[in-house]
Amino acid sequence: MTDPFAPLYDGFGRLHTSLRISVTDRCNIRCFYCMPAENVRFLPRREILSFEEIERFARVVARMGVNKLRLTGGEPTVRHGLADLVRMLAFVPGIDDIALTTNGILLAEQAQGLKDAGLHRLNVSLDALNAETFKKITRREGFERVLEGIFAAQRVGFEKIKINAVAIRGLTEDEVVPLGNFARQHDLEVRFIEFMPLDADGAWQNDQVLPGHRIREILELGILPLVPLPRPDPSQPATDYVFADGRGRIGFINPVTEPFCGDCNRLRITAEGKIRNCLFSIEEWDARAVMRSGGSDEDLANLVRSCVAAKKAGHGINSDEFVKPARAMYEIGG
Ligand code: 5AD
Ligand code: SF4
Repeated sequence: MTDPFAPLYDGFGRLHTSLRISVTDRCNIRCFYCMPAENVRFLPRREILSFEEIERFARVVARMGVNKLRLTGGEPTVRHGLADLVRMLAFVPGIDDIALTTNGILLAEQAQGLKDAGLHRLNVSLDALNAETFKKITRREGFERVLEGIFAAQRVGFEKIKINAVAIRGLTEDEVVPLGNFARQHDLEVRFIEFMPLDADGAWQNDQVLPGHRIREILELGILPLVPLPRPDPSQPATDYVFADGRGRIGFINPVTEPFCGDCNRLRITAEGKIRNCLFSIEEWDARAVMRSGGSDEDLANLVRSCVAAKKAGHGINSDEFVKPARAMYEIGG
């Protein structure tokens, strides 16, 4: 028998050291690339993992070599007591990096508490600097609050905040240069993400993808040439650049035109405790069932091992056989 807590290599030799934890499927906005517009059916409270269950799961995977956690949703800041969860996770032996992906709407209120609890890094989603375009995408108000949230986070001492901007052809071309300048003015990194087929409405079309290389051209023509930065971590999804004068970092996350699955080190757990080996997994492994039926840490570790062992080489978005997962982004966790 292999040690259930041995490092998490999959069948392609990829070592898994990063866990993305969805803490809720709820959200206070309705981005069209993620959620349905109305009548979303959220999970009832009892189906969501408690903080104690999340912490236990983190402890188990940390024994297997996971050292990085990222909290996602839905929108993680709508879960009550998020900072308490961060504090619990910060004490887990082996975890040395805790990050959060948020839409920023509630960040102005929560930034200080999250920082004090031990959160290390912050990604804020902001696809447009034009309030009308923001509203078209999110189908809600809140643009100013996101900006306030970003600046509040900088004031409480978060460094190297990253802005995630999903790029959509026919909708956000005019946002590219303003976002590039925003990165320059506020000492942020803006990362452009290609639109992936994870929308709840199933409306994704390949021709809505605004490819990263196209965005790069727009930035170079509109601002300055971009110089590639070294890649300290091969498993990072973004390729990073800096403008030629040294001001403003830009990252490209190109899952559609340049899949980075070959270096993937990520595992995911959904808000209701299903383990997934990929955003695009069809299969899931039920950690909640193991925990709530009295399973041991070894049982949990073995479940994680089965999930990692079944991981496919890549997502196959561009293949004819691609099957869109039944869950949309808000039900998985970005
Ligand atoms: N395609 C690309 N990115 C997406 N996100 C959410 N849904 C999609 C999608 N369909 C982004 C969010 C957030 C991150 C977690 O994933 O904007 O920044
Ligand atoms: Fe909410 Fe994030 Fe989904 Fe937008 S992408 S609806 S902010 S969970």
